Amino acid sequence: MSLQDQLIKDRLPSHVAIIMDGNGRWAKKRGNSRVFGHKHGVTAVREVTETSAELGIEYLTLYAFSTENWSRPKTEVDALMSLLVSTISSETKTLMKNNVKLNAIGCKENLPSGVQKRLNECIDKTSGNTGLTLTLALSYSSRWEILEAIKKIVIEVEDKQFDISQLDDEAFGSYLATQGMPDPELMIRTSGEHRISNFLLWQLAYSELYFCDILWPDFRREDYYRALIDYQGRERRFGKTGDQIK
Ligand code: IPE
Ligand code: IPE
Ligand code: MG
Repeated sequence: MSLQDQLIKDRLPSHVAIIMDGNGRWAKKRGNSRVFGHKHGVTAVREVTETSAELGIEYLTLYAFSTENWSRPKTEVDALMSLLVSTISSETKTLMKNNVKLNAIGCKENLPSGVQKRLNECIDKTSGNTGLTLTLALSYSSRWEILEAIKKIVIEVEDKQFDISQLDDEAFGSYLATQGMPDPELMIRTSGEHRISNFLLWQLAYSELYFCDILWPDFRREDYYRALIDYQGRERRFGKTGDQIK
């Protein structure tokens, strides 16, 4: 049976989050610059986006650039920002063809104006699409997001627009950048690193975590199917006993 046929169609996650890692090592193995790896990572982005859209997954969130990534050498950061501009422009037609709506989370003001412009254009152009919502986490870190949420809540409490006794999980979630999205049921990280690296700390509280050794530029449809099949074999207990779940 093919990997695709092993998938149980009515038990797919509604939200998949991915830490796309390993571009630099992929390039280094080929004696090339790290930027070469980032360029080849675009194919994998296209592949998981199209596959998610075909499978009817509602939300795909990709960690593309972290707050901490600003500390990389300027040449790499500049190249990544140019790559973002060219990729968003060239991929808009793929998004339209697949009925994908683009979204972004992170401190957008920190992005160069050219990136902000292209991003906003693509978000506008795809806003009427009704299939997959593709969220790019750009200049994003979860601690930044949580602190921003706390600042907003404090201001609203001071202005008497929000009653602090009403603050629960759901209310807090509505102040986060992922507001309106379900928490990811599955989080994938490539490249063999077993860490979260400041990604969706609140939202991943009960997600199934899947780590694989494949470097991001090599990640293909079949690797994605493997992660989804693995997810479908898990028992999600949410604190209950296994017997309660059955
Ligand atoms: C992920 O690949 C892409 C970004 C963080 C922008 P890396 O650039 O982290 O690649 P490695 O981990 O150094 O191989
Ligand atoms: C996490 O990867 C950020 C992105 C994939 C955008 P990093 O490669 O920056 O993570 P660390 O520093 O190895 O944890
Ligand atoms: Mg890395």
